[in-house]
Amino acid sequence: MDACGRIIDYLRLSITDRCNERCLYCMPEGYCGWEQTPDALTSEEILRVVRVAAGLGFRKFRLTGGEPLVRRDVVELVRAMRGIPGVERIGLSTNGTRLATLAAPLREAGLDTVNVSLDALSPEAYRRITGGRVESAIAGIRAAVAVGYERMKLNTVLLRGHNEAEIRPLIRFAAGLGLPLRLIELMPVTETEGLDETAFLSVAEVMDELRREEELIPAPNLRLGHGPAKYFRLARTGALVGFIGALTTPHFCDTCNRMRLTADGQLRPCLGNDGEIDLRALLRSGTGNAGLTAQFRAALRQKPARHAFCGEYAPCRPMTAIGG
Ligand code: 5AD
Ligand code: SF4
Repeated sequence: MDACGRIIDYLRLSITDRCNERCLYCMPEGYCGWEQTPDALTSEEILRVVRVAAGLGFRKFRLTGGEPLVRRDVVELVRAMRGIPGVERIGLSTNGTRLATLAAPLREAGLDTVNVSLDALSPEAYRRITGGRVESAIAGIRAAVAVGYERMKLNTVLLRGHNEAEIRPLIRFAAGLGLPLRLIELMPVTETEGLDETAFLSVAEVMDELRREEELIPAPNLRLGHGPAKYFRLARTGALVGFIGALTTPHFCDTCNRMRLTADGQLRPCLGNDGEIDLRALLRSGTGNAGLTAQFRAALRQKPARHAFCGEYAPCRPMTAIGG
């Protein structure tokens, strides 16, 4: 429990800040502030953090990045996490481009759920946003569907001027695979030249636009995991769409259940506030698990009531270094 009475049982682990794509909202163009290899946590260090977190009551873990699947030891990491008492659910957030080969071994190693980013379906729009090939992402999504994960979702960041026209095709594509699509408001985490505040598109505006063609029926009892999305079904097609209004929803942070570990071992109580606690130094100083546990407790106490995206918040590092 944190100081606001929220139950925090979900830890997102950025296992690398590197990526094989370069999404406009995540990575500044020409970014080369990669963590140096010695700064990145080893899988042994990550596993120690997971053990300590599980001992404190964390039950759900998610591997993020950067792109977590560029890390060579990711399958072994999942397998080792699976063996830690208290670890109930292991998820992955990925751009999907390496899932075609990794979906099956990851499932076999014990991965439960997969979220894939898909910001456009047209190859041109996808390339403009991510720098990559939509065909690879789609092949990865299909492979994961075929393997049969406990739960899968597709995620789209709303970007005015970049993907408004993609929203309906994306909803159809997801529904065709039986997957929910979540539409996410752009968070000002990464300042890039290609993207400024004019690219912000609110979920309310998109909902209004969708309602022109069909009714949105609230699906309030639907809890697909414990994420922040509000789900609706499109009346005509039955497609399931989630909206994550991180910036425009009042009380968005009231139900926050998570903390983050950056790829270089900083425990980050809130995505939208710069406070961090250095676990890497502790991990490497011979501190025992009791010392790590104390730092986790300190992070829980420090967890802010809400994000600072609507104020003067200027992030100290880009999303790729924090973990989406
Ligand atoms: N705003 C909103 N979502 C973001 N993500 C990354 N950067 C941002 C941002 N600035 C999310 C996307 C992506 C996942 C890895 O993190 O959903 O799919
Ligand atoms: Fe890579 Fe994901 Fe960041 Fe895009 S959002 S650059 S796929 S880490």
